[in-house]
Amino acid sequence: SAVTKYEAENATIAQGVVESNHAGHSGTGFVNYDNVAGSSVEFTAQAATAGSATLKFRFANGTTINRPLDIAVNGTVVAAGVAFNGTGAWTTWQDVTVTAQLAAGTNTIKATATTANGGPNLDYLETDIATQQPGNDF
Ligand code: GCU
Repeated sequence: SAVTKYEAENATIAQGVVESNHAGHSGTGFVNYDNVAGSSVEFTAQAATAGSATLKFRFANGTTINRPLDIAVNGTVVAAGVAFNGTGAWTTWQDVTVTAQLAAGTNTIKATATTANGGPNLDYLETDIATQQPGNDF
């Protein structure tokens, strides 16, 4: 399979800011979603071939309240209201995974907050795309 990491601080952010004040994040920071419904982070991800992919979102939520995100691929919600529950601290990062179909080439993967609390702090998206060439590790 092919694994690629996309840092949230390099994605397209609507109603959110890049911060780095909570340790343990990857890259140079993370996205702090504004605490409003509709705040979002949109990644642009590449797939060599069309097919199934695992989308792993690395996040922290230092509250005790779920901060659900709708996950959309190429403009269509493929997973609605995915739970991003409290992780115990803003410095405690955990993964949530979603399986989705990607198109060959460029894909948009957008994670949009559905409640007035906004999203969790989002560190990165990692895609794991099934590969089918002989000799690969699937
Ligand atoms: C705190 C925390 C931020 C977080 C915010 C929130 O301010 O330091 O990193 O994003 O709470 O509740 O969204």
